[in-house]
Amino acid sequence: MKNDYMSDKYVLITGATSGIGLEFTKIYHRKGYSLILVARRENRLKKLLKVCGPDTIIITADLSTPEGCKKVLDRVKGLDIEVFINNAGFGKCGNFEDIDIKDEISMINVNVTAVHFLMKGILKQMRRTDSGKILNVASSAGLFPAGPYMSAYYATKAYVVSLTRGVAEELEEAGSNIYLGCLCPGPVDTEFNSVADVKFSLPGISPAKCARYAVRMMDKGKTVIVPKLTMKAAVFGGRFIPQKKLIKTCGTMQKKKLYN
Ligand SMILES: NC(=O)c1ccc[n+]([C@@H]2O[C@H](COP(=O)([O-])OP(=O)(O)OC[C@H]3O[C@@H](n4cnc5c(N)ncnc54)[C@H](OP(=O)(O)O)[C@@H]3O)[C@@H](O)[C@H]2O)c1
Repeated sequence: MKNDYMSDKYVLITGATSGIGLEFTKIYHRKGYSLILVARRENRLKKLLKVCGPDTIIITADLSTPEGCKKVLDRVKGLDIEVFINNAGFGKCGNFEDIDIKDEISMINVNVTAVHFLMKGILKQMRRTDSGKILNVASSAGLFPAGPYMSAYYATKAYVVSLTRGVAEELEEAGSNIYLGCLCPGPVDTEFNSVADVKFSLPGISPAKCARYAVRMMDKGKTVIVPKLTMKAAVFGGRFIPQKKLIKTCGTMQKKKLYN
Protein backbone atom coordinates (compact mmCIF):
# COMPACT_ATOMS: atom_id res chain seq x y z
CA MET A 1 0.00 0.00 0.00
CA LYS A 2 1.35 3.42 -0.92
CA ASN A 3 1.57 6.32 1.53
CA ASP A 4 -0.34 9.41 0.41
CA TYR A 5 2.79 11.45 -0.11
CA MET A 6 4.45 8.81 -2.26
CA SER A 7 4.52 9.01 -6.02
CA ASP A 8 3.72 6.30 -8.60
CA LYS A 9 6.80 7.46 -10.41
CA TYR A 10 9.94 5.62 -9.48
CA VAL A 11 13.56 6.57 -9.11
CA LEU A 12 15.93 3.68 -9.84
CA ILE A 13 19.38 3.92 -8.24
CA THR A 14 22.19 1.40 -8.59
CA GLY A 15 24.91 1.37 -5.95
CA ALA A 16 22.43 2.77 -3.43
CA THR A 17 24.08 1.24 -0.36
CA SER A 18 26.97 3.68 -0.05
CA GLY A 19 28.57 6.96 -1.06
CA ILE A 20 27.10 8.97 -3.93
CA GLY A 21 24.28 6.49 -4.62
CA LEU A 22 23.18 6.61 -0.99
CA GLU A 23 22.99 10.41 -1.14
CA PHE A 24 20.85 10.29 -4.30
CA THR A 25 18.63 7.84 -2.40
CA LYS A 26 18.19 10.34 0.47
CA ILE A 27 17.45 13.22 -1.93
CA TYR A 28 14.77 11.40 -3.92
CA HIS A 29 13.25 9.92 -0.75
CA ARG A 30 12.90 13.45 0.64
CA LYS A 31 11.27 14.49 -2.65
CA GLY A 32 8.61 11.81 -2.09
CA TYR A 33 9.46 9.44 -4.92
CA SER A 34 9.07 5.69 -4.71
CA LEU A 35 12.50 4.14 -4.90
CA ILE A 36 14.03 1.08 -6.53
CA LEU A 37 17.41 0.44 -4.93
CA VAL A 38 20.04 -1.92 -6.31
CA ALA A 39 23.28 -3.26 -4.78
CA ARG A 40 24.85 -6.49 -3.53
CA ARG A 41 24.80 -5.89 0.25
CA GLU A 42 21.33 -7.07 1.22
CA ASN A 43 21.65 -6.05 4.89
CA ARG A 44 22.20 -2.44 3.86
CA LEU A 45 19.34 -2.57 1.34
CA LYS A 46 17.03 -3.90 4.06
CA LYS A 47 18.03 -1.03 6.36
CA LEU A 48 17.17 1.40 3.56
CA LEU A 49 13.83 -0.31 3.10
CA LYS A 50 13.05 0.47 6.75
CA VAL A 51 14.06 4.11 6.34
CA CYS A 52 12.48 4.75 2.94
CA GLY A 53 9.27 2.82 3.59
CA PRO A 54 7.65 -0.44 2.54
CA ASP A 55 6.89 0.80 -0.98
CA THR A 56 10.58 0.80 -1.70
CA ILE A 57 11.70 -1.98 -4.00
CA ILE A 58 15.09 -3.44 -3.20
CA ILE A 59 16.96 -5.59 -5.70
CA THR A 60 19.97 -7.55 -4.53
CA ALA A 61 22.06 -7.98 -7.64
CA ASP A 62 25.68 -8.34 -8.61
CA LEU A 63 26.00 -6.06 -11.62
CA SER A 64 29.29 -7.64 -12.65
CA THR A 65 27.20 -10.56 -13.96
CA PRO A 66 24.75 -10.70 -16.88
CA GLU A 67 22.21 -12.38 -14.54
CA GLY A 68 22.46 -9.47 -12.08
CA CYS A 69 21.83 -6.91 -14.83
CA LYS A 70 18.94 -8.91 -16.29
CA LYS A 71 17.39 -9.32 -12.83
CA VAL A 72 17.15 -5.53 -12.52
CA LEU A 73 15.52 -4.99 -15.92
CA ASP A 74 13.07 -7.87 -15.39
CA ARG A 75 12.00 -6.47 -11.99
CA VAL A 76 11.43 -2.89 -13.22
CA LYS A 77 9.64 -3.83 -16.46
CA GLY A 78 6.37 -1.91 -16.80
CA LEU A 79 7.13 0.50 -13.93
CA ASP A 80 7.06 4.23 -14.55
CA ILE A 81 10.69 5.20 -13.99
CA GLU A 82 11.12 8.96 -13.94
CA VAL A 83 14.78 9.03 -12.93
CA PHE A 84 17.53 6.46 -13.34
CA ILE A 85 20.81 7.02 -11.50
CA ASN A 86 23.18 4.57 -13.20
CA ASN A 87 25.78 4.83 -10.47
CA ALA A 88 27.27 1.50 -9.27
CA GLY A 89 30.98 1.29 -9.95
CA PHE A 90 34.42 0.95 -8.44
CA GLY A 91 38.09 1.54 -9.18
CA LYS A 92 41.33 -0.39 -9.11
CA CYS A 93 44.68 1.32 -8.70
CA GLY A 94 48.21 0.14 -9.44
CA ASN A 95 50.58 -0.91 -12.17
CA PHE A 96 48.57 -2.37 -15.07
CA GLU A 97 50.66 -5.54 -14.98
CA ASP A 98 50.13 -6.03 -11.23
CA ILE A 99 46.35 -5.68 -11.02
CA ASP A 100 44.54 -9.00 -10.92
CA ILE A 101 42.78 -9.60 -14.24
CA LYS A 102 39.68 -10.95 -12.43
CA ASP A 103 39.31 -7.65 -10.55
CA GLU A 104 39.76 -5.69 -13.75
CA ILE A 105 37.21 -7.72 -15.68
CA SER A 106 34.76 -7.34 -12.81
CA MET A 107 35.36 -3.56 -12.89
CA ILE A 108 34.84 -3.42 -16.65
CA ASN A 109 31.65 -5.46 -16.22
CA VAL A 110 30.23 -3.09 -13.59
CA ASN A 111 31.55 0.26 -14.89
CA VAL A 112 30.98 -0.39 -18.60
CA THR A 113 28.85 -3.43 -19.43
CA ALA A 114 26.23 -2.97 -16.68
CA VAL A 115 26.07 0.80 -17.21
CA HIS A 116 25.56 0.24 -20.96
CA PHE A 117 23.07 -2.63 -20.57
CA LEU A 118 20.92 -0.87 -17.97
CA MET A 119 21.03 2.47 -19.78
CA LYS A 120 19.77 0.85 -22.98
CA GLY A 121 17.02 -1.10 -21.19
CA ILE A 122 15.75 1.86 -19.18
CA LEU A 123 16.04 4.28 -22.10
CA LYS A 124 13.84 2.00 -24.23
CA GLN A 125 11.35 1.81 -21.36
CA MET A 126 11.33 5.63 -21.05
CA ARG A 127 10.95 6.07 -24.81
CA ARG A 128 7.41 4.64 -24.58
CA THR A 129 6.28 7.87 -22.91
CA ASP A 130 9.28 9.83 -24.15
CA SER A 131 9.94 11.20 -20.69
CA GLY A 132 12.42 10.68 -17.88
CA LYS A 133 15.97 11.39 -16.83
CA ILE A 134 19.03 9.15 -16.93
CA LEU A 135 22.27 10.07 -15.18
CA ASN A 136 25.31 7.87 -15.77
CA VAL A 137 27.85 8.28 -13.00
CA ALA A 138 31.21 8.54 -14.79
CA SER A 139 34.14 10.44 -13.28
CA SER A 140 36.42 13.36 -14.08
CA ALA A 141 38.81 10.48 -14.94
CA GLY A 142 36.68 10.05 -18.06
CA LEU A 143 37.44 13.61 -19.16
CA PHE A 144 41.22 13.18 -19.25
CA PRO A 145 43.07 11.36 -22.04
CA ALA A 146 44.48 8.64 -19.74
CA GLY A 147 45.41 7.95 -16.11
CA PRO A 148 48.53 5.86 -15.60
CA TYR A 149 48.36 3.61 -12.48
CA MET A 150 44.59 3.65 -12.80
CA SER A 151 44.60 3.11 -16.55
CA ALA A 152 41.71 0.65 -16.83
CA TYR A 153 39.48 2.69 -14.49
CA TYR A 154 40.10 5.85 -16.55
CA ALA A 155 39.29 3.89 -19.71
CA THR A 156 35.99 2.62 -18.27
CA LYS A 157 34.93 6.14 -17.37
CA ALA A 158 35.98 7.55 -20.76
CA TYR A 159 33.61 4.96 -22.26
CA VAL A 160 30.73 6.21 -20.10
CA VAL A 161 31.36 9.86 -21.01
CA SER A 162 31.61 9.09 -24.73
CA LEU A 163 28.52 6.88 -24.73
CA THR A 164 26.52 9.53 -22.87
CA ARG A 165 27.56 12.37 -25.17
CA GLY A 166 26.81 10.32 -28.30
CA VAL A 167 23.38 9.09 -27.23
CA ALA A 168 22.43 12.50 -25.78
CA GLU A 169 23.03 13.95 -29.24
CA GLU A 170 20.93 11.17 -30.84
CA LEU A 171 18.08 11.95 -28.43
CA GLU A 172 18.31 15.66 -29.14
CA GLU A 173 18.26 15.10 -32.91
CA ALA A 174 15.23 12.82 -32.47
CA GLY A 175 13.46 15.65 -30.60
CA SER A 176 13.16 13.50 -27.48
CA ASN A 177 12.18 14.92 -24.10
CA ILE A 178 14.39 12.45 -22.27
CA TYR A 179 17.36 13.89 -20.40
CA LEU A 180 20.63 11.93 -20.57
CA GLY A 181 23.75 13.13 -18.81
CA CYS A 182 26.83 11.99 -16.98
CA LEU A 183 28.26 13.01 -13.64
CA CYS A 184 32.03 13.51 -13.64
CA PRO A 185 33.22 14.24 -10.11
CA GLY A 186 36.79 14.48 -8.93
CA PRO A 187 37.52 12.97 -5.49
CA VAL A 188 34.43 12.33 -3.34
CA ASP A 189 34.69 11.02 0.24
CA THR A 190 32.98 7.63 -0.02
CA GLU A 191 33.94 3.98 0.37
CA PHE A 192 35.55 4.21 -3.09
CA ASN A 193 39.04 4.57 -1.58
CA SER A 194 38.83 1.56 0.70
CA VAL A 195 37.49 -0.51 -2.21
CA ALA A 196 40.34 0.75 -4.42
CA ASP A 197 42.74 0.38 -1.47
CA VAL A 198 44.18 3.91 -1.87
CA LYS A 199 44.07 7.35 -0.28
CA PHE A 200 43.24 10.46 -2.30
CA SER A 201 46.08 12.84 -3.00
CA LEU A 202 43.56 15.72 -3.21
CA PRO A 203 40.81 16.60 -0.69
CA GLY A 204 37.44 15.17 -1.66
CA ILE A 205 33.98 16.73 -1.55
CA SER A 206 31.16 15.15 0.43
CA PRO A 207 28.92 12.71 -1.44
CA ALA A 208 25.91 14.77 -0.29
CA LYS A 209 27.29 17.90 -1.97
CA CYS A 210 28.10 15.91 -5.10
CA ALA A 211 24.60 14.42 -5.40
CA ARG A 212 22.84 17.73 -4.60
CA TYR A 213 24.84 19.51 -7.30
CA ALA A 214 24.13 16.73 -9.79
CA VAL A 215 20.37 16.93 -9.25
CA ARG A 216 20.43 20.71 -9.76
CA MET A 217 22.41 20.37 -13.00
CA MET A 218 20.17 17.53 -14.27
CA ASP A 219 17.21 19.84 -13.80
CA LYS A 220 19.06 22.41 -15.91
CA GLY A 221 19.62 19.79 -18.64
CA LYS A 222 23.43 19.77 -18.46
CA THR A 223 24.96 16.78 -20.31
CA VAL A 224 28.37 16.65 -18.62
CA ILE A 225 28.23 17.57 -14.94
CA VAL A 226 31.48 18.39 -13.13
CA PRO A 227 31.05 19.35 -9.46
CA LYS A 228 33.63 21.67 -7.81
CA LEU A 229 35.24 24.67 -9.43
CA THR A 230 38.83 23.43 -9.13
CA MET A 231 37.97 20.22 -11.00
CA LYS A 232 36.17 22.22 -13.70
CA ALA A 233 39.28 24.42 -13.99
CA ALA A 234 41.55 21.35 -14.18
CA VAL A 235 39.46 19.82 -16.98
CA PHE A 236 39.31 23.14 -18.86
CA GLY A 237 43.00 23.91 -18.32
CA GLY A 238 43.91 20.41 -19.49
CA ARG A 239 42.85 21.36 -23.01
CA PHE A 240 45.83 23.71 -23.25
CA ILE A 241 48.46 21.28 -21.98
CA PRO A 242 50.24 18.91 -24.39
CA GLN A 243 48.56 15.50 -24.08
CA LYS A 244 51.74 13.65 -23.11
CA LYS A 245 52.34 16.10 -20.25
CA LEU A 246 48.71 15.88 -19.11
CA ILE A 247 48.83 12.07 -19.02
CA LYS A 248 52.06 12.24 -17.00
CA THR A 249 50.42 14.65 -14.52
CA CYS A 250 47.41 12.32 -14.13
CA GLY A 251 49.85 9.47 -13.51
CA THR A 252 51.68 11.47 -10.84
CA MET A 253 48.36 12.10 -9.04
CA GLN A 254 47.45 8.41 -9.15
CA LYS A 255 50.91 7.32 -7.98
CA LYS A 256 50.60 9.65 -4.97
CA LYS A 257 47.39 7.82 -4.02
CA LEU A 258 49.21 4.51 -3.97
CA TYR A 259 51.94 5.68 -1.61
CA ASN A 260 49.88 8.10 0.55
N1 LIG B 1 34.37 8.51 -4.79
C1 LIG B 1 34.97 9.13 -5.80
O1 LIG B 1 35.98 9.82 -5.63
C2 LIG B 1 34.40 9.04 -7.18
C3 LIG B 1 34.84 9.96 -8.14
C4 LIG B 1 34.34 9.91 -9.41
C5 LIG B 1 33.41 8.95 -9.75
N2 LIG B 1 32.99 8.05 -8.82
C6 LIG B 1 32.01 7.03 -9.22
O2 LIG B 1 30.85 7.15 -8.40
C7 LIG B 1 30.16 5.91 -8.38
C8 LIG B 1 29.80 5.57 -6.96
O3 LIG B 1 30.98 5.37 -6.21
P1 LIG B 1 31.17 5.86 -4.72
O4 LIG B 1 32.28 6.81 -4.70
O5 LIG B 1 29.88 6.27 -4.13
O6 LIG B 1 31.74 4.51 -4.06
P2 LIG B 1 31.17 3.55 -2.95
O7 LIG B 1 30.88 4.30 -1.71
O8 LIG B 1 32.15 2.43 -2.88
O9 LIG B 1 29.79 3.02 -3.58
C9 LIG B 1 29.76 2.12 -4.66
C10 LIG B 1 28.38 1.54 -4.80
O10 LIG B 1 28.37 0.64 -5.92
C11 LIG B 1 27.85 -0.62 -5.54
N3 LIG B 1 28.50 -1.69 -6.29
C12 LIG B 1 29.83 -1.90 -6.46
N4 LIG B 1 30.04 -3.03 -7.14
C13 LIG B 1 28.81 -3.55 -7.41
C14 LIG B 1 28.36 -4.72 -8.08
N5 LIG B 1 29.21 -5.61 -8.58
N6 LIG B 1 27.04 -4.94 -8.19
C15 LIG B 1 26.15 -4.06 -7.66
N7 LIG B 1 26.51 -2.94 -7.02
C16 LIG B 1 27.83 -2.70 -6.89
C17 LIG B 1 28.15 -0.73 -4.04
O11 LIG B 1 27.18 -1.55 -3.40
P3 LIG B 1 27.45 -3.03 -2.82
O12 LIG B 1 28.89 -3.08 -2.38
O13 LIG B 1 26.46 -3.15 -1.72
O14 LIG B 1 27.16 -3.92 -3.98
C18 LIG B 1 27.97 0.71 -3.58
O15 LIG B 1 26.63 0.98 -3.27
C19 LIG B 1 31.09 4.90 -9.06
O16 LIG B 1 30.66 4.67 -10.37
C20 LIG B 1 32.45 5.60 -9.04
O17 LIG B 1 33.29 5.16 -10.09
C21 LIG B 1 33.46 8.08 -7.54
